[in-house]
Amino acid sequence: MNAPANDRARAARHLVRIIVDGKTTDQTFGLDPVKQPSPLCQELVFGTLRYYFSLNEAVEKRLSKALRSKDLDLRLLMLVGAYQLRYTRIPDHAAINETVNACRPLRKPWARSLVNAVLRSIAQDVDDEKTECSFELPDWISGRINSAYPAVAADVMNGLLGRAPMSLRVNVSRTPPAEYKARLDEQNLSWQAGLVPEHIVLNTPVPAAQLPGYAQGQVSIQDGGAILASGLLDPERKLAQQSNCRILDACAAPGGKLFHLAESVAPAELVALEINSRRLEHLCSEAARLGFDSIRTLQADATDTSWWDQRTFDAILLDAPCSGVGTLRRHPDIKHLRKIDDLADYQQLQLSLLRNLWRTLATEGTLLYCTCSLFQEENDNVVQQFLNETHDARAQLISAPVGQRTEHGWQLLPRPVNDANLAASVDGFYYARLRKISDNQERPG
Ligand SMILES: C[S@@+](CC[C@H](N)C(=O)[O-])C[C@H]1O[C@@H](n2cnc3c(N)ncnc32)[C@H](O)[C@@H]1O
Repeated sequence: MNAPANDRARAARHLVRIIVDGKTTDQTFGLDPVKQPSPLCQELVFGTLRYYFSLNEAVEKRLSKALRSKDLDLRLLMLVGAYQLRYTRIPDHAAINETVNACRPLRKPWARSLVNAVLRSIAQDVDDEKTECSFELPDWISGRINSAYPAVAADVMNGLLGRAPMSLRVNVSRTPPAEYKARLDEQNLSWQAGLVPEHIVLNTPVPAAQLPGYAQGQVSIQDGGAILASGLLDPERKLAQQSNCRILDACAAPGGKLFHLAESVAPAELVALEINSRRLEHLCSEAARLGFDSIRTLQADATDTSWWDQRTFDAILLDAPCSGVGTLRRHPDIKHLRKIDDLADYQQLQLSLLRNLWRTLATEGTLLYCTCSLFQEENDNVVQQFLNETHDARAQLISAPVGQRTEHGWQLLPRPVNDANLAASVDGFYYARLRKISDNQERPG
């Protein structure tokens, strides 16, 4: 068994599942951070997806004839090879040899000389067309970012191309953040303070299993932008003091925001809905790791109320399914899987979730609507339409330590990583907080 060649072959196979079969990286790798493929294999898959457009151009122009559809794995293997040559410190000769050797585990030893020739040509051509697709985005995404954020569009697109720092959330119900930081110091893991006390960013990423107290549920991996959700839902920490407080997380898996609510707000009752059984299963195993056995988890569709016991919720988190374009740093597969027409479908689903869940919210209750989208279609436009048709809904002013105000909410934007201020480097999230007002507060007419 040649392990380095196998990593390249595995990377090519994962890429077939993503690019050809339309699976997400979560589906092909699984959700558990401690059961991921080898670091090299992950690096090759994520890196190739990130720089796919220019790598593909470099490979395609060196192929004298198109490959047969059953040999798409070979094209993806060559992209994996080109990625190593252009973006890693792997010496060229090793990158080429091990990628050529990967033809064997792919059961295509006849392709060795082709792969070798293409990669050698790319290695020689250092000033190749690397800059032509500089933001590595499909036109529909870059076009929308340019028109939505003209002043900062290049920054946002560079931010989406970069790597997210390793961002952690300390489980304050188990460990005070100061104690956890001391444990990181003991293990020589250097860190920076985050956006809230329980948020920490590591200067250098490590595998999840190497984090102190990970197996014991003292810490989770979560983007800084996602960590803001709990504070935005309950900025004055009123829910934490309310007896019999009932909170719903309507689209809960894999559970990062849900567990943060459990850790920080600790409501009397926390109900989590998730439509996807595999994702719900992962959420339940995370709940066990973090020590939350009292969260009520239901596999249910939040666009209907068949799951509802008719008791209203004091607060609802609706982290709606969306295009996910704000998370391209962590999920570069998204730019290959999403199509422009998906936005209209997501918008319909988001509105249907809002309309349905509103019925389950108590008067004076709060709903935090959240997406990881950069596009108005899924953000302010959805909230605007909902406000137009819902007489007892009001958007409240919100703000966060990073990001910018929008008409109805708050938008976080990814930016290129500044090593001195990793905490400010967040995924692109949108938040809007909606309050259900009582009848006597309604507008006249
Ligand atoms: C953006 S993710 C939620 C992320 C989660 N809040 C977290 O912080 O880890 C959206 C989730 O909603 C689920 N979902 C999609 N449609 C749904 C529906 N109709 N009812 C309930 N869950 C749904 C998806 O399977 C997905 O797990």
